[in-house]
Amino acid sequence: MAREFGLDPNGVLKLASNENAMGPSPKAVEAAAQAMRHAHLYPDGSAIALREKLAEVRGLKPEQIFVGTGSNEVMVLLAQAFAGPGDEIIFGEYAFIVYKLAALLFGAKPVSVPMPGLAHDLDAMADAVTDRTRIIFMPCPNNPTGTVVDPDDLKSFIRQLPEHVIFCFDEAYAEYLDEPADLRPLIDEGYKVFCTRTFSKIYGLASLRVGYGYGDPELIKLLNQVRQPFNSTGIGQAAALAALDDHAFVTRSRESNRAGLKQLTEGFKRLGLDCPPSEANFVLMAVADSRKVFELLEARGIIVRPLHGYGLSEYLRVTVGTEEENTRLLGALEELLAGPDAASLKGESERR
Ligand SMILES: Cc1ncc(COP(=O)(O)O)c(C=O)c1O
Repeated sequence: MAREFGLDPNGVLKLASNENAMGPSPKAVEAAAQAMRHAHLYPDGSAIALREKLAEVRGLKPEQIFVGTGSNEVMVLLAQAFAGPGDEIIFGEYAFIVYKLAALLFGAKPVSVPMPGLAHDLDAMADAVTDRTRIIFMPCPNNPTGTVVDPDDLKSFIRQLPEHVIFCFDEAYAEYLDEPADLRPLIDEGYKVFCTRTFSKIYGLASLRVGYGYGDPELIKLLNQVRQPFNSTGIGQAAALAALDDHAFVTRSRESNRAGLKQLTEGFKRLGLDCPPSEANFVLMAVADSRKVFELLEARGIIVRPLHGYGLSEYLRVTVGTEEENTRLLGALEELLAGPDAASLKGESERR
């Protein structure tokens, strides 16, 4: 992009993939550097140290935990293990695209359920369940809408699901919430609940590809049968272990995100751009012509995420940056609004 627009590569601002604006946890960086000394050795394929640490931190048992190449891999393996041709996988129409891709990958039918007001509709999802349903995927907060589901409503929803359905709760952004829904009691009660988390977001380790899932040990055994022997790296495991101890970094990241969300939300509103509330580390911004605005920002070295693939062509998704980065984005938008392309931002678009 820098080459295309004749920009300094260091000046490109990427607010497109919901990464942590604070960078990686410094403790994790140090641990990864140390682990590089053993880079010639294969890693511990079953990630025992990391699973034991996660068990301690999260109040789980190591045998309830499965570590993968990002939570993306964990969810794809879940689909591989439990769904195939003739089966159905349910998800919300504006939910994270990987659920649909996972269904298609293994020949299962993707069942997309409407999300009025950009939020998951639990009644509609319950109505979509059939004898062929194998998995329901639900992220909270959802990417790309930033919406959350009420924890009590969610628990009631799960309690009425038939036994042949696995409910997969994707908690990639849970650490950004003050009180994320806690489904561990339902796992203990024997409900078919499987949760996924990641080190890619608040822990700032997206490039190291470490995520995990937790649920019933029997389900974890099946996932272990379909994974590759060394599906997470030693460097990633070491960094993730250290990141779990870096409480100050997590707190700093959460606080910075909260301030950044406020800065962006208020900034968009001040510019007259509609912006649905978000609880994650990104936010939607409604514009009249999202392709055009994407290109105009790109030409200024700022990358945001267009959402045509989600059927949300009237929005751009913006990852929360540092205060300085957010200011740069808002400044660029203000400049656009004052110029000849203002109509691409604030037209008579159909708003939700
Ligand atoms: C809702 C959601 N789940 C899962 C992921 C996958 O994250 P990773 O594979 O890096 O753990 C993402 C990444 O953006 C996401 O937005």
